[in-house]
Amino acid sequence: MTQDEMKKAVAKAAIEYVVDDAVIGVGTGSTANQFIDCLAEIKTRIRGAVASSEETRRRLVAKGVPVFDLNEGHDIPVYIDGADEFDRNLCLVKGGGGAMTREKIIAAVAKKFVCIADASKKVAVLGQFPLPIEVIPMARSYVAREMVKLGGDPVYREGFVTDNGNIILDIHNLEIAEPVKLENIINNIVGVVTVGLFAKRGADIVLMGHQEGIEVIRP
Ligand code: A5P
Repeated sequence: MTQDEMKKAVAKAAIEYVVDDAVIGVGTGSTANQFIDCLAEIKTRIRGAVASSEETRRRLVAKGVPVFDLNEGHDIPVYIDGADEFDRNLCLVKGGGGAMTREKIIAAVAKKFVCIADASKKVAVLGQFPLPIEVIPMARSYVAREMVKLGGDPVYREGFVTDNGNIILDIHNLEIAEPVKLENIINNIVGVVTVGLFAKRGADIVLMGHQEGIEVIRP
C-alpha cells in the first residue's frame, strides 16, 4: 500500500468505532479528511459531529453531516483523528495542521480517542516531528526563549494564524523522553495556549496502516 492507501484504509477501518445515533468528534488533517469521506457514506447512522477545526467543519457541512457546537453538551463517545507521531504508550505529537487546541479539547471530552495513522507516524521516542505550540501572539519571543532553555529550537510558523487567532511555534530537536512531564512543563509557560503533545490524554487505540494491512495498537 502507498501512504495514501494506508490513510484511506485506516479511515475506513475507523468506521467500525462510530457509535450509532451519537455525536462524534472529528479531527483535522489528510487522514481525518479520508475519514470524513467514509463518514459521509454512513451519515444517516449518526446524529452528527463536532469539528476540531474550521476546515473540518466546512468539509463535514459540504458532505451533509450535521455539525454541533461542543458547548451544546452532547456526549462524545468517540473522537477520531490522525497524528504526526505516536509512541508505544500512544502518546502523540499533533498540530502539524495547527488545529491542536480544538483537537485537545475534543479529545478531553470524548470517552474514546481512536487515532488513525500510517506506519510512518510510529516512533520510539517522540520529537522527530517538530513539536507545535499554539501561543498568544504577544508571548511569541518569551515562549521561544523558554523553549530554548528546555533544549529545543523554536521556529515561528510564518504567515499562519490558528482558528483561535494565535500563532504557532514549531519546536525542533527535542527528544521527548518523558512526554507527560514535558507536557506539564510547557503547559505552565505563560502565553502557551496549547502544546501539541497529547501525553496525559493520549489515544486509547491507534489503527496503524502498514504495507500488509491494519494493526490495532493499544497501550
Ligand atoms: C492537525 O493539527 C494535526 O494534529 C493532524 O491531526 C496531524 O497533523 C495529522 O495530519 P495528517 O493526517 O495530515 O498526517
